[in-house]
Amino acid sequence: MSQPTIESILQEDRLFPPTAEFSQLARIKSLEEYQTLYDRAKADPLKFWSELAEQELHWFQHWDTVLDWNNPPFAKWFVNGKINLSYNCLDRHLETRANKPAIVWEGEPGDSKTLTYAELHQEVCKFANVLKSLGVKKGDGVGIYMPMVPEAAIAMLACARIGAPHSVVFGGFSAEALRDRLVNAEVKVVVTADGGWRKDAIVPLKPQVDKALAEGTTVVEKVVVVKRTGQDVSMVSDRDLWWHDLEKDASTDCPAEPMDSEDMLFILYTSGSTGKPKGVVHTTGGYNLYAHITTQWIFDLQENDVYWCTADVGWITGHSYVVYGPLSNGATTVMYEGAPRASNPGCFWDVIEKHKVSVFYTAPTAIRAFIKMGDEHPNSRDLSSLRLLGTVGEPINPEAWMWYKSVIGGDRCPIVDTWWQTETGGIMITPLPGAIATKPGSATLPFPGILADVVDLDGNSVPTNEGGYLAVRHPWPGMMRTVYKDPDRFRKTYWEHIPPKDGNYIYFAGDGARRDADGYFWVMGRVDDVINVAGHRLGTMEVESALVSHPAVAEAAVVGKPDEIKGQDIVAFVTLEGTHQPSEDLAKELKKHVVSEIGAIARPGEIRFADALPKTRSGKIMRRLLRDLAAGVEISGDTSTLEDRSVLEKLRTEGS
Ligand code: PRX
Repeated sequence: MSQPTIESILQEDRLFPPTAEFSQLARIKSLEEYQTLYDRAKADPLKFWSELAEQELHWFQHWDTVLDWNNPPFAKWFVNGKINLSYNCLDRHLETRANKPAIVWEGEPGDSKTLTYAELHQEVCKFANVLKSLGVKKGDGVGIYMPMVPEAAIAMLACARIGAPHSVVFGGFSAEALRDRLVNAEVKVVVTADGGWRKDAIVPLKPQVDKALAEGTTVVEKVVVVKRTGQDVSMVSDRDLWWHDLEKDASTDCPAEPMDSEDMLFILYTSGSTGKPKGVVHTTGGYNLYAHITTQWIFDLQENDVYWCTADVGWITGHSYVVYGPLSNGATTVMYEGAPRASNPGCFWDVIEKHKVSVFYTAPTAIRAFIKMGDEHPNSRDLSSLRLLGTVGEPINPEAWMWYKSVIGGDRCPIVDTWWQTETGGIMITPLPGAIATKPGSATLPFPGILADVVDLDGNSVPTNEGGYLAVRHPWPGMMRTVYKDPDRFRKTYWEHIPPKDGNYIYFAGDGARRDADGYFWVMGRVDDVINVAGHRLGTMEVESALVSHPAVAEAAVVGKPDEIKGQDIVAFVTLEGTHQPSEDLAKELKKHVVSEIGAIARPGEIRFADALPKTRSGKIMRRLLRDLAAGVEISGDTSTLEDRSVLEKLRTEGS
């Protein structure tokens, strides 16, 4: 092989086939059925996707061409088709599901609300008319900076209804981060709230909007404010308006605008490890189909399921798997405003018990936090309504997976470990729960129609069990279309690391991975985080998983630090479970444990105990900050996405 890739050292042999009961009732019932779908899609992807688009969605007008890939990497799906995502999420369900709960919302202080499909349709129509009355036209940008309240979903659906691309900015982002995003997306109207509840406190949102607009660098004309918490906020006359005032006189009649399949649906900003955030652009028809069909097959949606994805609408998971995917399928989707907190560490389990949640989708960072809080919280709730669990966002360590399976899933629920990205629009590599046996820590096999591979930098597939770069060989409907106003960055970031060969473009995901003898994918983390020890390139996930498999360890992050002899030495930052205390002996024991789990090559040179690890606001560990800390250099690069600055300060002072 001409280029170095990544060595894989994790050994994991446990295999959990779906139970006969689960498979019998599942949408995709066996490995053979999956294989048939996969093979059919591989042999003729365009036929596969166009048949699904016809069967599963409502189109105002049929497309002329399934895929236009004449100008790669810029794809067009369902060319000249006319469609509306809000229509597919609402109107078409009214005949059969008018009284079915669409959104079941739970506020952190204990208030709750259910909106049926008929009610949600009305609310969306009203708000769509409000937006129109504020001068928002097809193609105009709308910013959404909201807590997890139903109005966030209503605003998104209203934008989709009138063809105004939305840009949802996570409510935890600062005024500066908000301003950058509003400027870049040329947002005309911002929808926000006075504040939201999180961890028993009010997160003020309106003051951040005021600050973001103060400099006058945005083109925002109006700000719509939802009254959520009731605290005092200042309202700028002629600019700021209350949602409830505007809604009073709004008509419930607002036909869905037939959108071109390739009209922009939304921009969502994602931060790379360096540089300013990228505005990931998704368009209408392909995204609708991809969010729809992945939700249906992967979460095995049945008519009576109560489905809960814990993601915030500020992330792609909130777009595809809280709002659009479930509603397009006519499902009941749960929205929860709050987060586990000292006053109620078991609040998630309360929501499951109260609403009889049957499908639960969350992130490894949350699972690791639950483990740390103790089993007594889930154990004291009735979780017997659950039948399927999911995870997304990071590689899940096998021990955390096993805990999730037994303590939350009662050893009864399959787990779908779903690999995907903001850029991919929907899930790409995942078990189909009735069909594919799972292995802890593996996202298993590609979704039908997704030609995923592990390759070297020349685009050649690497041999079984060798590490390489995760890549996709054929376009898919949910793929991002470009970086907003920066097509060059789109091309360079995703399509040029592995140069196209014979006109075949390969999508580079930026993750390291390996495939095992069964064809299962094991994602090893971001390639930017790879450590090079004595010429061996190691993914972070595998060393971290070895550490987490020790009973004292709650969470671990490993990074490389420059070393004269080995090139890099491994430094492990470790947080401990409950009663365990840091000590020299424990550090020694952990080093030994890693050696016995994976071998001497992965032995950490240094163990640093910490109370908490620096994370992004979506819960991902920021290894690049730890890398600077370990090397003892000034922290460089962007820290605006850091969730809690004090964590970094603490690590810095402890290390010195
Ligand atoms: O590194 C992979 C990791 O999260 C990245 C995508 O992050 P984001 O765009 O924020 O989207 C998160 C929700 C899809 C990927 O490049 N990642 C996500 N899911 C997994 C994962 N890594 C391993 N296993 C997963 N299941």
